[in-house]
Amino acid sequence: MAPSALRRGGTAVAETPADTVREQAVDAALAQLDLDTKTRLLAGRDMWSLPALPEIGLASLVMSDGPIGVRGVRWTADDPSIALPSPTALAASWDPALARRAGRLLAQEARRKGVHVLLAPTVNLHRSPLGGRHFEAYSEDPHLTGAIGTGYVLGVQDGGVGTTVKHFVANDAETDRFTVDNRVAPRPLRELYLAPFEAIVENAHPWGIMTAYNEVNGVTMTEHHHLVNEILRGEWGFDGLNVSDWMAARSTVGGIEGGLDLAMPGPHTVYGEALAAAVRAGEVAESAVDRAARNVLRLAARVGALDGAPPVVTEPPASLDGVDVAREVARRGLVLVRNERDALPLAASGTVALSGAAARDARVLGGGSAQVFPDHVVSPLDGLADALPPGALTYTVGADPSDELVPAEQGFTLRAICRDATGDVLGEGTLPNGQVQWIGDDLPAGVTHETLASVEVVGSFTPRESGEHSFGTRGLGAFTLGIAGETLFEGVQTMGPETDPFEAFFGAPVERAKVTLTAGETVEVSLLHPLDKEFAAPLAAVMFSFVHLGPRRDPDELIAEAVEAARAADTAVVVVATTERVESEGFDRTDLALPGRQDELVRAVAAANPNTVVVVNAGSPVEMPWRDEVAAILLSWFPGQEGGAALADVLTGAAEPGGRLPTTWPVALADAPVTEVTPTDGVLDYAEGLFVGYRAWDRAGAVPAYPFGHGLGYTTWSYDALEVTGDTARVRITNTGARPGREVVQIYLAPQDDPVERPARWLAGFASVEAGPGASVEAEIPLARRAFEIWDDEKSAWTFVAGTYEVRAAHSLGDTRLAATLEV
Ligand code: BGC
Repeated sequence: MAPSALRRGGTAVAETPADTVREQAVDAALAQLDLDTKTRLLAGRDMWSLPALPEIGLASLVMSDGPIGVRGVRWTADDPSIALPSPTALAASWDPALARRAGRLLAQEARRKGVHVLLAPTVNLHRSPLGGRHFEAYSEDPHLTGAIGTGYVLGVQDGGVGTTVKHFVANDAETDRFTVDNRVAPRPLRELYLAPFEAIVENAHPWGIMTAYNEVNGVTMTEHHHLVNEILRGEWGFDGLNVSDWMAARSTVGGIEGGLDLAMPGPHTVYGEALAAAVRAGEVAESAVDRAARNVLRLAARVGALDGAPPVVTEPPASLDGVDVAREVARRGLVLVRNERDALPLAASGTVALSGAAARDARVLGGGSAQVFPDHVVSPLDGLADALPPGALTYTVGADPSDELVPAEQGFTLRAICRDATGDVLGEGTLPNGQVQWIGDDLPAGVTHETLASVEVVGSFTPRESGEHSFGTRGLGAFTLGIAGETLFEGVQTMGPETDPFEAFFGAPVERAKVTLTAGETVEVSLLHPLDKEFAAPLAAVMFSFVHLGPRRDPDELIAEAVEAARAADTAVVVVATTERVESEGFDRTDLALPGRQDELVRAVAAANPNTVVVVNAGSPVEMPWRDEVAAILLSWFPGQEGGAALADVLTGAAEPGGRLPTTWPVALADAPVTEVTPTDGVLDYAEGLFVGYRAWDRAGAVPAYPFGHGLGYTTWSYDALEVTGDTARVRITNTGARPGREVVQIYLAPQDDPVERPARWLAGFASVEAGPGASVEAEIPLARRAFEIWDDEKSAWTFVAGTYEVRAAHSLGDTRLAATLEV
């Protein structure tokens, strides 16, 4: 559809005949609602949906996370979803068209699950590598973030499903996220943090936005009249729905005056009855309620949930194969940052020694609300075993990044028996793993929160290794643990006064018993959990886990085994990873080191085999102190369910690694420009102003491990000609290698005179081109006026900065190939 059906002023201006009919249907529906019904609509019905209003033909609008898959309204593994790679991987493709394809697949998933609105994309910036949700955002650069986010939103909405671009705005770290006051000066706010939102509103016309938990400059975002009403709606013409982040809405009057339409989750929010009462008390004008309700109804109309209103999309695009899209995005997001002596692709006839715990138990996605549950995962071990000839591959664990117990999965067959207070069975739920997480009405058939008195996880376990297995619990309350018919633990897990409930439910598991078991011999297992109001979660939910860990091995022995195997093979591939306790929503990282003894493993393997390839399975930067000692390094991010297959494609050379860094990788945390994410007295000062990411590295004259935009392919390119006009750069390049390839041509602007303080250079545009060996191709890259503008706070306006610019055509920020001078 057209970039925007509305411009300026925030009043709906219908653009097409269908828009007019839709807007009329919205008005007609609104006119039939009384105050109480309108305010109930703005409060949500439950965790993920809004009330249905059959009297006006309104179906219940359903929302779901987001961003790498569509979880649906159930937070369990028995409602599987396609899991795409982490947003960092999608951004590493530098390909808005691929993001659009991913979006279309997600719309298809949403429709399959009855979801109308996807709670995505996350377009906050990589301000600091310590940000806990770094993996869930795209880049340190606003232009790249906006371009990928635009592709994503267009794709989801092509499928007739809404998006909520989040988290508006400056939710760039997790520490004290509910209360932190992020102090950001107007210029960096406009040029960096608001910029991706603005670009997406302009170019993709999103049907929704999600306002963040945090404050910006002293005002919480769910009440931010200036940023929401004046900038987002007023200046940019956003005409969609503004939904609060979950439980972020705090004030009835503040919310409605600050442009918040919908407070989620419902039904107990600051809207609903409280909002109706505020209108009756004369504190809020009913027209403000109408405005918010109209935005809800408009969204419903757009997605086809309001009778009589034509949905925006009547024919969804052709269906896509989720497995194919997941594999393609993973492949295209893999960034080859080092490839000495052309260590990759692997020689066709060679043997490979694979090691690393994550090579077998792959970490495919980050923690928190972005979690979905795929029906299968292709690990690097699976992927390589499939791709290499029989006998060419060996596997050793080498090092385990964590010796924490995890929800029982591998080798377990589990179900949950739900009983009432008299011990009668109410119902049973299937459990693909040991995690019970039933939120709201998401309970097994026949079970209600009122009648449910206990849950018992029961089933069998067939170990894959002999030795001492550990079993335990996560969550609060009473537990009785039985293995092979014997009760091994009976006790209560209480919460200290300081414990954050989030931490108690999702935090560290507790080991309760150790049992020696034999590989292949099945034992019965059970975990009984009587429910107790004292330990209930802050919302209607049942949350606890039955956790397990296989035999702990001597770490020296594990490394020695991997070294032995590496010595005997032509190539050693080591997969290193972070864990869910390192990268997740809800907390920030404290360092960038790889957990456990993984650094030692890499060094030992590299010393034994000069052809050592390291695969880094992490959603965001990690320190790689061994990076000059290994032959090749591939960053796989969190590669999604098909990650192992994509990795095998790239290692064997069936495909080229397509990715370029969307964010600078520091040598060490201390070198990163922003290392403070903990507020002081509630305030986090964005004191660095405009200088985040490469803008800061440039200013400091510092050299990172790998610069922004960096990434190698399997062919080479010559940059032959650069031609620049005021609004376009044309770059002719030739594939000078022996294989077909794809190059991301990047254009940076470097101002040559400095009437105002500006970064030394910035990304102004990019384009991908493909060419066969020896072939030349031209990349055409538009240069937007905005690339030459700064935000002038005194004038409260964007100002074009005339002068001389060097236009650089580059393979990466650190590898400029051609330059031209431009006077504007
Ligand atoms: C997250 C959002 C998410 C919401 C619903 C919040 O905690 O910040 O990104 O969409 O939960 O799960």
